[in-house]
Amino acid sequence: MQIHETIAGLRAALKGGTALVPTMGNLHEGHIALMRQAGKLSDSVVATIFVNRLQFRPTDDFEKYPRTFEVDCEKLEAAGVSHLFAPSEAEMYPQPQQYHVEPPPSQAGILDGEFRPGHFRGVATVVLKLFNIVAPQFALFGKKDYQQLMVIRNMVRELNLTVEIVAGETVRAADGLALSSRNGYLSPAERAEAPRLQRELARVRHALLAGERDFARIEQQAMTALRDSGWSPNYVAVRNKVDLQCAAAHDSELVVLGAALLGSTRLIDNLEV
Ligand code: PAJ
Repeated sequence: MQIHETIAGLRAALKGGTALVPTMGNLHEGHIALMRQAGKLSDSVVATIFVNRLQFRPTDDFEKYPRTFEVDCEKLEAAGVSHLFAPSEAEMYPQPQQYHVEPPPSQAGILDGEFRPGHFRGVATVVLKLFNIVAPQFALFGKKDYQQLMVIRNMVRELNLTVEIVAGETVRAADGLALSSRNGYLSPAERAEAPRLQRELARVRHALLAGERDFARIEQQAMTALRDSGWSPNYVAVRNKVDLQCAAAHDSELVVLGAALLGSTRLIDNLEV
């Protein structure tokens, strides 16, 4: 695997037809599954590791976000990744970024965007930069971050980008917890409790499949169950799968999304119905 710290070096090494997998590092099986999926699309897989300050608010966990570069490199090698782009902040943002991608509030101000103002603007901006740096044929994103995937798909469509977005399924631990770099923040007791978020989303999904159409009722039920177990839920929401807008009773393409704080760790998850 070739490791590049500069844009010029990376560009010189790439021949086109590339599959890009952007990450912030601290890689787990969810990331690695995307790398393998990318390997099926192209011989040239570019992984990126860059903890993007632009998508964190000052009160977020930017400083303490886990950085595990050496181990990440070993995992990428083992997964057959051909190129790793790991730029410094100075390489990505040689001066304060003044041009941004501003996703519409209808997509970036809802759900996670409501609780993390500016987050998707930071994500869309860095992802567009990465697309321009790598010029990939494919770019892979996990369904774990469902709203991020939707925002990026819509950015690609509306800005006529040529990259093809490919989604990866959410990879979970044996007890159902979606893998996430933030799981490392959990105490052993919190880690044991953490699968409850997924279980509550599964209950909502089950109710929907059984024909329940009072979305507010089952959303509230799940939020209450989480609260009763010591969580601080941000939202549990039944939404239309395509645009994440509020679902109508006759919608069949549904997804259940949830975000909740367990102690000081914010976990998100979702299940397609
Ligand atoms: P990060 O959280 O490192 O995630 C990188 C990619 O891995 C994203 O596409 C994410 O959806 C995917 N991923 C994370 N956990 C997963 C899981 N359990 N199963 C499947 N895929 C999973 O998302 C980001 O970084 C950043 O916002 C980024 C897109 C890199 C922009 O900075």
